[in-house]
Amino acid sequence: MARFRFPSQILSKFFLKPIPRLTPKSCLGIDIGTSSIKIIELSQIGTRVKLENYGETSVLTLYEKPFRTFEKSTLLLSSSDIGKAILAILEETKIQTKSAVFSIPDFSTFFTNFELPPMTKEELPQAINFAAPQYIPLPLSEVTLDWQLIGGKVADRKRTKLKVLLVAVPNEIINQYGEIAKISSLETKFMEAEAFALLRSLIETDKITIGLVEIGAQSTTCSIIDEGKLKSSHSLDVAGNELTQALSKGLGLDYQEAERLKKKYGISPLLREISKPEDKKVAQTLLPSVDSILVEIQRIFQNFFQVEKKGIKKIFLAGGSALLPGLKEYFASVLKKEIEIVNPFTNIFYPPILEKTLKEMGPSYAIAVGAALRGLE
Ligand SMILES: Nc1ncnc2c1ncn2[C@@H]1O[C@H](COP(=O)(O)OP(=O)(O)OP(=O)(O)O)[C@@H](O)[C@H]1O
Ligand SMILES: [Mg+2]
Repeated sequence: MARFRFPSQILSKFFLKPIPRLTPKSCLGIDIGTSSIKIIELSQIGTRVKLENYGETSVLTLYEKPFRTFEKSTLLLSSSDIGKAILAILEETKIQTKSAVFSIPDFSTFFTNFELPPMTKEELPQAINFAAPQYIPLPLSEVTLDWQLIGGKVADRKRTKLKVLLVAVPNEIINQYGEIAKISSLETKFMEAEAFALLRSLIETDKITIGLVEIGAQSTTCSIIDEGKLKSSHSLDVAGNELTQALSKGLGLDYQEAERLKKKYGISPLLREISKPEDKKVAQTLLPSVDSILVEIQRIFQNFFQVEKKGIKKIFLAGGSALLPGLKEYFASVLKKEIEIVNPFTNIFYPPILEKTLKEMGPSYAIAVGAALRGLE
C-alpha cells in the first residue's frame, strides 16, 4: 500500500499565507555642534519608532578647537577631523546603519519670509526664485534654496496672498557636510536646517503659537512656530560658553571649575529665599549673560506680535544650556508664560532603564532626534 505523504510544499503553497516580514527601517540623525557631535539611531516598524543607539563625542576629548564657530559660515575643524570623530562614535557604539540625516547649523542658514500675490501651485517655484535675490545676502549661484508655504493657499477661490518661508544654505556648507559624510562612510539622506529638525522633535505643536529657544554652547536660536509651521528663526551669538566664560572671568576660576559650578548652581540660588553667599555669587555672575539672551528673545516675540498680532502662548527650551539650574523658573517669571524643557524621546520606545538618562539628554539631543525622524518619514 502506498504510503500517504503529506505534501507540505503544496500545502504551504495553497493553504498557508506567507507571513509578511516587516523589516525595520533605520536612520541616523547627526548634529555637529560646537561642543560635541551627537548621533541618534532610530528604527521604525509600522508606526512604532524605537531608539536603537546613541553616541556623542565632546570636542575637548578629541581636539582643542570647537567643531564649528559662529563667525564663519564654515566648520572650524577640517571635514576630515569631523569625519574621523563621527567614525569614532560609530565604532564605539557599533552602529551599523549607514543612512543619515545631517542637521545644518542655523547660524549659517538664512531664514526669511515674504509675501507673494495669489498664484497657482505651478507658478510658485518660479516666483520664489525670482523674488529670492532681494532677501538673500549671497548670490543665488552660491546657495541652495528650500521653501515652505506658511500662509495662504495656492489658487484658492478667495485669491489670498501667499506667505513663503525661504531657507538658503550656502553651497560651501552643503559641500562640507557632503565631504564629512563621505569620510565617515555614511549615505546622506537629507540635510536640513536645525530649526526644522528641532520642530519635528516636539509633539503637539499645531494648535498654539510657540516660542522655541535652543541654547547650545556657542549660539542660541529663537524660532516661532505657529499652527505647526516654522514662521521665523533668529540666531544669537550668546549661549553656554559665554556663561562659563563670564563665571571664569568674574570669579577668577579656571574654565573647568567655572563649567562645574555653572551646572551645579546656575541661577537657582537667586530664586531661593535662603542660599549661601558664595552660591549666590555664582548666580549673580551668570545673570547678565542670561538676561542678554532673555532681552533678545523678548524682542523677537514682540516683533512677531507687532507683525502677526499673535502672542506666544508657550515656550519650549532646548539645547544643553536649557538645563541650567533655575533657567526654566526664571524665564517663566520674567516672560510670564508656560515653559517646558524639550523631551524628544516622549513618543519613542526605549528600555525603561534609560528613562532618567534620556530625560537629561533630551534637550541637547533634540536636533539629532528630529533629524533621524526625518529619515524615517
Ligand atoms: N546641566 C547643565 N547646566 C548648564 N549648562 C549645561 C548643562 N548641561 C550642559 N550645559 C551646557 O550646554 C552647552 C552644550 O549644549 P549643546 O550640546 O546643545 O551645544 P552644541 O550643540 O555643542 O553647541 P552649538 O549648538 O551652540 O553649536 C554647553 O555650554 C554646556 O556647558
Ligand atoms: Mg547645537
